Amino acid sequence: MKKPLVVANWKMYVEKPETAKKFALSLKRKLRTASADVVLAPSSTLLPTVSLATKGSSVRVAGQTLSAYTDGPHTGDVSATMLKAAGATWVIVGHSERRRDAHESQEAVRAQIESAHEAGLVVVLCVGETERDPAGAHFSVIAGQLVSALANGGTKILAKKIVVAYEPVWAIGKNAAEAVHPADLREMVIFIRKNLADILGRSVGVKIPILYGGSVDASNATELLKEGDIAGFLVGRASADIDSFTEILRVCKK
Ligand code: PGA
Repeated sequence: MKKPLVVANWKMYVEKPETAKKFALSLKRKLRTASADVVLAPSSTLLPTVSLATKGSSVRVAGQTLSAYTDGPHTGDVSATMLKAAGATWVIVGHSERRRDAHESQEAVRAQIESAHEAGLVVVLCVGETERDPAGAHFSVIAGQLVSALANGGTKILAKKIVVAYEPVWAIGKNAAEAVHPADLREMVIFIRKNLADILGRSVGVKIPILYGGSVDASNATELLKEGDIAGFLVGRASADIDSFTEILRVCKK
């Protein structure tokens, strides 16, 4: 069976190179016995430090976002090529905090995926509704996000280089009790898989790994992984502390 995939989204929780380096070196040692594949997503400023510290290990490094532009006059942006040069081989795209804080549109998300793929980066595409409603409107929100990000991709969207992270916005940054209910997660995963099959064709669509993110910690990871039928997690707050993160990795056994 494939190992679960756990992506650590450090957001702005880890700030200094020395903290990032200490974390990465410690993770490298502990990973020898871990049963999960790990991707660390530090802020852009910490990418070179983390890439260097994890060199020679199975840990992969991701950007937390990227520019929709490939190059040129875009002050403050970081392009796919720049991420790659800083050591990233993966990138998170469409995180709800980027959609909220930086007003990243559906079009921008799509352009970011294309740009990432042109540079050879693996994309973790985040989708998620801001609220659930009894009539099920949240399903159409997810379907809309998937279609606008991935439909009519031609050669620019590479299905093999996509991982989808279902991150309901209402569950992000809370505590384990407020994470999605495992049965609801399972239902959403089936829905996402069906949509991916419709958009990208059955043979590739059903193989795309689906992660869950939103208040995951060691106390709910095992159940969510088992009951939710997911490939792993995108973890925020609990990923920024080496002890809570390695505890998640430890319980990540199917
Ligand atoms: P959280 O964040 O684990 O702190 O809820 C998850 C995410 O936003 O990726």
